[in-house]
Amino acid sequence: MSIDGTPPPAGSRLASPGWVLLPLRLFLGGTFVFAGAQKLADPGFFRRSSPSSIQSQLRTTAAGSPIHALVTGLSHHAVLVGLLIAFGELAVGAGTLLGLWSRAAAVGGALLSLGFLLTVSWHSHPYYYGPDIVFVFGWIPLALAGDGGVFSLQAAITREARHRFGPAVDLDRRAFLATARAAAVVAGGVAVLGGVSAAVGRIVGATSAPAKRAALPLPLPERGSTSTTTTTNASTASTTAPATSASTAPRPAGTDIGLLSSVPAGGAATFQDPASGRPAIVLRSSSGVRAFSAVCTHAGCTVQFTGSQLACPCHGARFSTTDGSATRGPARAPLSSIPVAVGPDGHMYADG
Ligand code: FES
Repeated sequence: MSIDGTPPPAGSRLASPGWVLLPLRLFLGGTFVFAGAQKLADPGFFRRSSPSSIQSQLRTTAAGSPIHALVTGLSHHAVLVGLLIAFGELAVGAGTLLGLWSRAAAVGGALLSLGFLLTVSWHSHPYYYGPDIVFVFGWIPLALAGDGGVFSLQAAITREARHRFGPAVDLDRRAFLATARAAAVVAGGVAVLGGVSAAVGRIVGATSAPAKRAALPLPLPERGSTSTTTTTNASTASTTAPATSASTAPRPAGTDIGLLSSVPAGGAATFQDPASGRPAIVLRSSSGVRAFSAVCTHAGCTVQFTGSQLACPCHGARFSTTDGSATRGPARAPLSSIPVAVGPDGHMYADG
């Protein structure tokens, strides 16, 4: 369909970017609408104590991210960031599907995907296992070519304006204003969709809610130090190091990753593996501490401590807190263990 509403001959559609990109546009638009609605419908997304919360994701992905400082700063406003991401995805998806300011929507989608690439899937290995790099490059053709007037609300508005006002001098302005009015209506629809998603998620969650864990104060991670995550039901079998530091032993080898007392008994904390610079996690039980790489062995997302196991938010893999072995796929290889010891000064030292 051309901008003036004339459908191109079927044979020429393959030469039309709008038609060629239509499957990609439908997929990306639909996926972003789904992703935004899913985040708003998930009660755990904004619950600080949940391993899938935006707070937890910002905290655990900050370590090792090339935009560490930005992510750490944003984590002070995690709920706002989560809302912006969820509604941003809805707006990008709706604009893409409807053909409303399609290029701007595609740029927004590419920026969101780039943010996910630099955080959640930054450690994917090989790099093409990470989903976000594909989304980044998927949005680029749409940002360059737009919707080409194919199934485009904006093109329809322009046609209508031309039909109503003829070749008026200010046709562009009239078309812009009409498009802006349509965008306002779509924004209202996005807000309603987000609200409905959130309400449905909480109603369903209230009827099938898992046992809630207490929310804890969660200090933000700093390079070379730990940040507390979760505190319930950690494995108690440990032989790695004593849980107390009342010792006159010399300071252990390795890099200081923070005070043992900053990790609650039965809890965990994230830190940056001094050997690789990648996210890592230290677990404290009643009998000691142990540490593992927090980089999922499936495709490199950052695993999080759920209170009883280590969980990957990307594709659902689970790992033992005892030895790092994979207890649920798709990951098969264990998380690599990081030697950690507690010094006489009460600090933990990772010997990566
Ligand atoms: S990256 Fe796929 S399960 Fe962790």
